Amino acid sequence: MKKDLLKLLDLSGEEILEILDTADQLKAMKKAGIQHPFLAGKTLAMIFEKNSTRTRVSFETGIYQLGGNAIYLSDKDSQIGRNEPVEDTARVLSRFCDGIMIRTFAQEEVETLAQYASIPVINGLTDFCHPCQVLADLMTIREHKHKLEGLKLCYVGDGNNMANSLIVGCLKCGMKIAIACPADYQPDPEIMAFAQQYPGQFQCTPDILAAAQDADVLYTDVWASMGQEEEFHQRKVIFARYQINDAVMAAAHPDAMVQHCLPAHRGEEITAEVFEAHADEIFDEAENRLHAQKAVMYLLMKDVPSL
Ligand code: CP
Ligand code: NVA
Repeated sequence: MKKDLLKLLDLSGEEILEILDTADQLKAMKKAGIQHPFLAGKTLAMIFEKNSTRTRVSFETGIYQLGGNAIYLSDKDSQIGRNEPVEDTARVLSRFCDGIMIRTFAQEEVETLAQYASIPVINGLTDFCHPCQVLADLMTIREHKHKLEGLKLCYVGDGNNMANSLIVGCLKCGMKIAIACPADYQPDPEIMAFAQQYPGQFQCTPDILAAAQDADVLYTDVWASMGQEEEFHQRKVIFARYQINDAVMAAAHPDAMVQHCLPAHRGEEITAEVFEAHADEIFDEAENRLHAQKAVMYLLMKDVPSL
């Protein structure tokens, strides 16, 4: 049966670690200049119904480095934007390609695409989750801290797609996670229910300094996600305190690292000073999108039979 990456809830901790180990190996090969055309002749279709820099470039560059080819499909110039049913897009792309990456709004659209596709489907961000980003995040944290088990991550900001995926990824990999968010902006109820299975490992509080206490990793994301542009002015008031700044850094472990999925808004969710002091960690994280996405494509697409 084909495998997809639709959300981290579908993966075991062992499966997440297998992706991270594969990503480490692919990164080492790349750095050593060793060619690795493991997906030669294979094609990834990339559907984008939202903007992207990192996700597009990491998947597109990644498939080329693996010997394959990418096709970029935006809703503006494909039939997807003219309401061709996702069930039909899935079956058509399955006749041409070997994998589909999709960035869209509703998680249900990705799940339906995967249900109707006979080739692997990879979620490149929905309103619900961003699994590919969190794989790169965990890879980066492990690179810098040499382990995941027992570390504490504190996420400051909106209980959005990033918070949802971080909770699942961290808990499945043996980490603790504390979410600092306003009471009305908590993570998705399904994720909150999942986290209840990890007593003592999970905290969700409006108290930023309590959440940041002894954290090994501080993480933040934009106050208004793609699709929430009209709420920005209201959110700017609600989230004003939810910022990684010197006071939050002081509450964390003295060696705490900082992660941001990017794009960043300096002076909003993070100060320019903290961002620049931790820029190496943040851009390592961005680079690791490439290696993590190559690992996902390799593991899911290597066994897709040729047409
Ligand atoms: N972090 C991330 O997914 O970036 P893009 O929106 O640029 O793809
Ligand atoms: N929460 C952000 C993440 C961007 C990578 C968004 O959905 O826009």
